[in-house]
Amino acid sequence: MTRLRLLVICFLEIIFSCLLITGHTRSSPPLLEKHVALFIFSDSLFDAGNNNYINTTTNFQANFLPYGETFFKYPTGRFSDGRIIPDFIVFRVTIDSNIFAIHKPRITHGVNFASSGADALTETHQGLVIDLQTQLSNFKIVEEQLKKKPGDAAAKTLASNAFYLIDGGGNDYFVALTTNSSVLQSLYSKKQYVDMVIGNLTTIIK
Ligand SMILES: *[C@@H]1O[C@H](CO)[C@@H](O)[C@H](O)[C@H]1NC(C)=O
Ligand SMILES: *[C@@H]1O[C@H](CO)[C@@H](O)[C@H](O)[C@H]1NC(C)=O
Ligand SMILES: *[C@@H]1O[C@H](CO)[C@@H](O)[C@H](O)[C@H]1NC(C)=O
Repeated sequence: MTRLRLLVICFLEIIFSCLLITGHTRSSPPLLEKHVALFIFSDSLFDAGNNNYINTTTNFQANFLPYGETFFKYPTGRFSDGRIIPDFIVFRVTIDSNIFAIHKPRITHGVNFASSGADALTETHQGLVIDLQTQLSNFKIVEEQLKKKPGDAAAKTLASNAFYLIDGGGNDYFVALTTNSSVLQSLYSKKQYVDMVIGNLTTIIK
């Protein structure tokens, strides 16, 4: 039931998600020519297994079959039986066929910070997921590591040429609409709530 619910979350998120690919704009298709790092901030749409490593409940983990069955042949932590969008992007930009979870980073290739169940508001599944704000803090930690190795200048170039893939909002709305939450009943109007989600996403993107 709850697992089904998470699958539903995935689908809802496709509707709600705000998918941004930013980075260096260049005229010709550059991706196959050059190494670019990929940094990902998201929820179950793009989580490649980070929640396997955090203290959470099985509702927020996909480390059992049939997850992974079709493509990987074992459960990776992806909320999918096949690949997720970042896997295809990684393939397309040929940086590495591996998608990097926080805990096994080859950080010069980028890091996937996504956490299933997470989103823009800290309150969304608080304590069970890595919210986007924390994902951003984790990115800053990685930036510091990059400044040590390969060094300041290289880190700067890497960050400014990198691809940033950000998705969020789906779980914020899902939580407010599906749990017996007082959020939309007494705390906020729908507009205020949406403004808050968008406001937090905007802050994070900036
Ligand atoms: C994990 O969470 C449970 C329930 O909240 C708690 O009892 C336990 O101490 C936590 N474990 C760690 C290692 O933080
Ligand atoms: C939702 O909350 C109201 C008020 O606290 C309560 O009366 C009701 O039983 C709750 N419904 C569910 C499905 O938990
Ligand atoms: C971000 O969300 C918090 C609640 O988690 C809210 O209090 C705050 O006003 C929001 N920030 C913006 C810029 O909308």
